Amino acid sequence: MGIYSKYIFPRIMDSALSGRVIARYRQNLLAQAQGNILEIGFGTGLNLPNYPKTVKKIATIDVNPGMSSLAQARIKATGIEVAQHLLTAEKMPFEENSFDTIVSTWTLCSIADVEQALSEVYRVLKPGGQFLFLEHGLSNESKVQFWQNHLNRLQNILGDGCHLNRSITKLVEKQPWQITQEQQFYIKDMPKAVSYMYQGTAVKT
Ligand SMILES: C[S@@+](CC[C@H](N)C(=O)[O-])C[C@H]1O[C@@H](n2cnc3c(N)ncnc32)[C@H](O)[C@@H]1O
Repeated sequence: MGIYSKYIFPRIMDSALSGRVIARYRQNLLAQAQGNILEIGFGTGLNLPNYPKTVKKIATIDVNPGMSSLAQARIKATGIEVAQHLLTAEKMPFEENSFDTIVSTWTLCSIADVEQALSEVYRVLKPGGQFLFLEHGLSNESKVQFWQNHLNRLQNILGDGCHLNRSITKLVEKQPWQITQEQQFYIKDMPKAVSYMYQGTAVKT
């Protein structure tokens, strides 16, 4: 892993995704989190202060040790016990049917083999368990899509593997769970190419 990925990008990402507006979206999604919880693409721990007070323990997965070291301050500050795993979401070490809730925020854009990661999420989710996602991706407006497709390569470099043009719901739909909630919207006051969001819940039946 290069210097940019390990030392520079984690700080850029932390600053870009740590605002109050974004925190409100995090809280809204995480209000449903319960039971045995796994968060994929844990990053710098920005979700930690936004879990409901009832959450006492989570397991996390991330590939980037630079993200993990920045997360330590938030881990110390939270009352939640965090079991961190420095691993890829494409191949998780957990038994099948292990988790009641799996969380992914602003992560499906960056995972190299996102379909494989989602099949792993499905595998380790318990029957009746829920996958909560809040992700940016391909807009429903063709003008915005044009820019997302054209800027994708640049974003890939600057965003350490991030894609602007993934159709998140289409990717999630490939697993045999049931999408029980889904909404797509822009976050206001941000460039449209990066602010088209997919928020939803998929339940393993
Ligand atoms: C844009 S950051 C989002 C971090 C965090 N989820 C948040 O909401 O602030 C994307 C995260 O996904 C992680 N990531 C990328 N590819 C991954 C993979 N294959 N497996 C696990 N984590 C991955 C990155 O290291 C990074 O921490």
